[in-house]
Amino acid sequence: MRLWSRGELDALEATADRLNSSIGFDRRLFNEDVDGSIAWINALEQAEILSEEDVNQMRQGLEEIREDLFSVRVTFEPGDEDIHTAVERLLTEKIGELAKKIHTGRSRNDQVATDFRLWVMRACDEVLQLLHDYLSAIIEAAKIGLDAPMPGYTHLQVAQPVTWGHWMLSHFWPAVRDRERFQRTRRVASDLPLGSGALAGTSYAIDRELLAQDLGFESVSENSIDAVSDRDFVLEFLFAASVLGVHLSRLAEGLIIFNTAEFGFIRIDDRFVTGSSLMPQKKNPDVLELARGKSGRLIGGLTGMLVTLKGLPSAYDKDLQEDKEPVFDAFDTLAAVLPAITGLLSTITINPEQMEAKITGESLATKLADYLVGKGIAFRDAYREVAGILDRLGQQDRKLKEISMQDMKALHPAFEDDIMDTLDPRNAIAEYTSLGGTSQESLNIQLQNAFKALEASA
Ligand code: ARG
Repeated sequence: MRLWSRGELDALEATADRLNSSIGFDRRLFNEDVDGSIAWINALEQAEILSEEDVNQMRQGLEEIREDLFSVRVTFEPGDEDIHTAVERLLTEKIGELAKKIHTGRSRNDQVATDFRLWVMRACDEVLQLLHDYLSAIIEAAKIGLDAPMPGYTHLQVAQPVTWGHWMLSHFWPAVRDRERFQRTRRVASDLPLGSGALAGTSYAIDRELLAQDLGFESVSENSIDAVSDRDFVLEFLFAASVLGVHLSRLAEGLIIFNTAEFGFIRIDDRFVTGSSLMPQKKNPDVLELARGKSGRLIGGLTGMLVTLKGLPSAYDKDLQEDKEPVFDAFDTLAAVLPAITGLLSTITINPEQMEAKITGESLATKLADYLVGKGIAFRDAYREVAGILDRLGQQDRKLKEISMQDMKALHPAFEDDIMDTLDPRNAIAEYTSLGGTSQESLNIQLQNAFKALEASA
């Protein structure tokens, strides 16, 4: 029998039931449902609706149900529409009549919002832990070649020389911002809806502040209508997950390119590559490709949820039941991708000779212009003169790297003996001394700041 049954309305047509039921996925909220229910009976005792004895009996029953659900000793029944009705049914089976009092003053509307917020808060904590490991792996990966020169790219064209460490750390700071987003999401989720009833509040003397404390919420919702319909915390979670997914995808794409035979900058450890069923020589970067590919479903979850919410009248509508699967999926996706990428980064190796060899002479063209600026030529003129030199060399099919000092000096009257120093990428790198720049000096500061950010409290 359904818990909300009024007798004659009992039977829900099978097709409607299948559509309506959410137990298939919201069973994942069981732990939070038990926590929420225990906090609720405590509040009912405080309000003198339940006796101490009642509460002890109910709490024990709920704890046993939690244990049963943890160890998968429970079979759900056709009438178990969702985890909330299932827990109440199980409690009734355990302690009998007394269980009927548990839902006093509570609605599934404030109950599900509370359970789900609690779940999201805990999910944020887990993601933050995984992010910490990921951030730490990025630092370690940067350190394997902090000052190893490599070509820097814009438009995927060689632009200016940078270092491996600098490139690697360019993926550290986005992850720090991801961490901030998950911290914020946790705060946003931590606003307690319980005590809002179906939408109007509850007429029982429930101390909501105490409830919040009991459940570890940071604040109590201000408006009961808003409290049962607000799913901003869901959007925030999905957004944080999507942005992180996009960051992981971009890192993955960079590493996939660097791992090709054509680039040969990095080598992914054999434990993180997969073979081909046909081509014996293949070592495929599936882990990275999946990190890239799975960003799609994260973005899809966010987009879907935004659309689901946009037309809903307040307060609760059943559409809101659609909020859980994308969040569970986003969490599972991150829980699968982050550790794999962390492991891959911890075992990656680089080929510094190959990276340095791929730095073109032309990527030092800005330095040549700077050289002329040093000789008193305005930058815009210097830029044009260097462009002209490169054009001329291009027409002769010559590369800057192959040119002798004598030939260089013949190319511009201001070029002197020291012009060859300008064409050394290591010198160019050493000169990018601005804060956040690629010089060793700047990188040391960046690395120190990265360590500080890593240790900053989650
Ligand atoms: N399974 C429902 C959900 O996930 C619980 C809330 C049901 N409330 C209701 N008024 N039907 O949203």
